[in-house]
Amino acid sequence: TKRVAILISGSGSNMVSLVESMTGDHPARACLVLSNNHDAGGLRKAADRGVDTAVVDHRPYGEDRAAFEDILHARLTEARPDILCLAGFMRVLTEGFVSRWQGRMLNIHPSLLPKYRGLNTHARALQAGDTKAGCTVHEVTPALDDGPILGQAEVAIEAGETAETLAARVLELEHILYPAVLRRFAAGDRRMITLP
Ligand code: GAR
Repeated sequence: TKRVAILISGSGSNMVSLVESMTGDHPARACLVLSNNHDAGGLRKAADRGVDTAVVDHRPYGEDRAAFEDILHARLTEARPDILCLAGFMRVLTEGFVSRWQGRMLNIHPSLLPKYRGLNTHARALQAGDTKAGCTVHEVTPALDDGPILGQAEVAIEAGETAETLAARVLELEHILYPAVLRRFAAGDRRMITLP
């Protein structure tokens, strides 16, 4: 059975969908949920589901990302994960950290990559007059929100759509897509999944 550590910064709804998917004949189990933020609502949700939790606060390290990542790496290594899932983890990781986990780290991003890397993806899609939006799961490589795409799900943008309504509808898709990709990835299958 593969061991999966999930990195969060906030409410952790994607983390919950991943944790709850890893039961029965699933090839993986959650070994740790780690947040860079003590206040992340997802920490409680993970503990309620019987998953070990940890916090590595980035703030004491200021601009020194490598120092933060050394502690992060040490704490993760204690949990012996085979796979890292970034799930609303809002820290940019350096090449040094990424290279230590390359080929074993996934991320979910709320856009149809390669469009809209970075933040405010839904507002940018609306601003551009796009007719569809969605989410992407990809392998993490040193370049931000780049790396081989493992899954994508799209929704049509509707009349009267706001960034908030779009975010909510895309988030529902995230909760389907990410577990579907993780299940395949944990079984060693890197073929792309397209939803619906
Ligand atoms: C999700 O929409 C995820 O795609 C996005 O943050 C949200 C986290 O929600 N991630 C990023 O923007 C990464 N740059 P959650 O904490 O409820 O899973």
